[in-house]
This record gives sequence, C-alpha cells and structure tokens, in this order.
Amino acid sequence: MRLLVLGGTSFLGRHVATAALERGHDVATFTRGVSGEPPEGARGLHGDRDDPDALPRVLAGWSPELVVDTSCQTRAAARNAAAALGGVRGYAFVSSLNAYRNWPPGPLGPEDAEPTWDTQDDDYGPNKAFAERVIGAAVGERFLTARAGLVIGPYDYVYRLGWWLDRIARGGRIVVPAEGLDQPISLVDARDLAGWLVRMAEEGRTGTVNAKGPVDMTTLGGLLEVCRAVTGGDAAWVPVPEADLLAAGVQEWVHLPLWLAQGTARTAWDVDTTRARELGLTTRALEATVADTWEWMRSSQRPPVPARRPAPGLPADLEERLLAGR
Ligand SMILES: NC(=O)c1ccc[n+]([C@@H]2O[C@H](COP(=O)([O-])OP(=O)(O)OC[C@H]3O[C@@H](n4cnc5c(N)ncnc54)[C@H](OP(=O)(O)O)[C@@H]3O)[C@@H](O)[C@H]2O)c1
Repeated sequence: MRLLVLGGTSFLGRHVATAALERGHDVATFTRGVSGEPPEGARGLHGDRDDPDALPRVLAGWSPELVVDTSCQTRAAARNAAAALGGVRGYAFVSSLNAYRNWPPGPLGPEDAEPTWDTQDDDYGPNKAFAERVIGAAVGERFLTARAGLVIGPYDYVYRLGWWLDRIARGGRIVVPAEGLDQPISLVDARDLAGWLVRMAEEGRTGTVNAKGPVDMTTLGGLLEVCRAVTGGDAAWVPVPEADLLAAGVQEWVHLPLWLAQGTARTAWDVDTTRARELGLTTRALEATVADTWEWMRSSQRPPVPARRPAPGLPADLEERLLAGR
C-alpha cells in the first residue's frame, strides 16, 4: 500500500520507513529536508507540516492509504494533518507518555483509566494530547495512538544512551547515582516500535497504547552494565549519593541522562503495557539494542554530538568536583 511517514529521515521515523519498505509498501516520507534524506527506496516529499498548504500541495501528486506520524510536535501540525489526511485507511500516531497529566511521576494504569492534558499550554505533553484528539476525530475508527516511553537504538541523535556509551567507553572513574542504580527503567528499541507501528497502520488498529518496554525489563544499573560490556574498557563506577548530586547542581535526566531522582523514579516506569503486549509490541534483548547503537555510533553515519542546549551529559568540571575525594 502507499504508506506515508510524517518524519522518516531521522530516528524513529527512519526505522518506520525502513520497516515499511521491508514489508513491501510504496513509501514516502514528508519532512522539511533539514535532517537528511529517507532510506533508499522511499520517496522524499518536502514541506513544513506547520504550513497548512504544504501537505495538500504534495498530496496532490501522491496520495497515501496509510500514515505513520512520527513528527507531530505542534498544534498547527496536528490541525494540518487532520485536515489533509482524515480519509486514510490506517493512521498510527506517535504520541508520548507525557500526554498523561500524571506522568511523570506516574504510576500509570491501563490507558483509558488515566487522564490526559486538556489545557491550552504550548508544551510537549498538552500538544501531544491535543494532536491525539484532533487527528483522532478526523480519522475515526482507524486511528491508533502510541504513547511512547523512552525510545533508544541506532540513529538516536538525542544522545542520552549515547552519552553513557561514549563516557563508559572512555573508561576510568565514572560518577553514577548511588540510589539510582537499582531504579527500574524500561525502554523500547526504535526498530521494534517502528515495525509494530507499520503493522498497526496496515491493520487499521484503533485506540490508545502505552508503547514501551515491560515494567521489569531492567534497572539503570543493569543498563549501565550492558553499556560497559558492549564498549569494553576499564570503567569503574563511583556511586555518588543523590543528596550530593542534587547539592552539586546535577540535573536529573540532563546531566546524568536516564537518571531520575528517587521521588520520580519510584513510579515513573511503572506503566501498564498489557495492551501493547496483546497487540504484539515486542522487546528485543537489551544487549542487542545497546550493541547495535554502539556500532552505529562508531560508524561514519553517526551525526555530531547534538548542539542543542542543554546537551545531555555531565560537564567535565562538575564530574571532577564530584569525583574529588571519593
Ligand atoms: N525519543 C524518545 O525517547 C521519544 C519518547 C517519546 C515519544 N517520542 C516521540 O517519538 C517521535 C519520533 O521522535 P524522533 O526523535 O525519533 O523523531 P523522528 O521522526 O526521527 O524525527 C523527526 C522527523 O520529523 C521531521 N520534521 C521535524 N519538524 C518538521 C516539520 N515542521 N515539518 C515536516 N517535518 C518535520 C524531521 O525532518 P526535517 O528536520 O528534515 O524536517 C525528521 O525527519 C516524536 O513524535 C517524539 O515526540 C520520542
């Protein structure tokens, strides 16, 4: 079928385009053309989805039957997609757990039991919740929204797992959050999510799905051990108590990517994923995800460390201060 990826040249969207090509679809991507080109075999359509004329202009020449939407970040983008694509046979929308009012910190029960944002704020979570409502109303029964948790894998330019891999590969004494090592964390490989999204669009599946790995998948410490095994080297953990990290100005999630302070971490990854499992979202071995990500990072395809601020990772001076005397 003719399958349009909104996005498709960067991380998750690129894997969606690849999965759709592998499943024999006629694939087009729709992007501004800033983040690169789609995988070979997909046609690259260009325009800014915030511009109401852009999608109708390109769709006049190529009209999709299925859509996987990985790039919706604004209310304008949602309205424009709803206006241009309401008639498709299947529409899988990538939302976020941030669409829920109570996340973080959670915990989150089954999808329909949890309230989502309904405020006008121009923020990530409220915008995703708005987009779900507007596009869902236009598409109707063939609309599925995947509220994604943490997504990792090759082509992940966000550089959270990437920072840990680079830092652990460099070796030596490494600051780790003492209480954080045991905190549960669950992740979804972008390739598992991408293939599943394509199947959901093909099948015209409807409803809302918490799209993340299972609750008991691993811990932050377990993930870091996998990173150490994959990169090799002599990295040694130096556990620093949470109180000391916070007093030194270490920001959770930013300076130590993937680390959440205990108050949030206790419940953040306790998210009901029964529906995702019932609908066939699989979770490959974490070792494979990390190894493939590391292989991609060492390849020539790796982009530069993101220039956006704040860039993930512990600044060198802060690391030095935290390690001193330990
Ligand atoms: N990464 C995570 O852990 C995570 C967690 C939860 C949810 N999500 C959601 O997952 C989705 C995928 O994230 P990703 O980082 O993998 O994104 P992605 O789909 O790989 O990249 C964004 C794509 O959208 C295109 N794009 C951006 N702005 C555009 C615009 N105004 N008009 C047209 N195209 C535009 C970009 O191309 P150009 O720059 O060339 O336009 C790029 O191809 C996002 O919706 C994100 O909110 C991600």
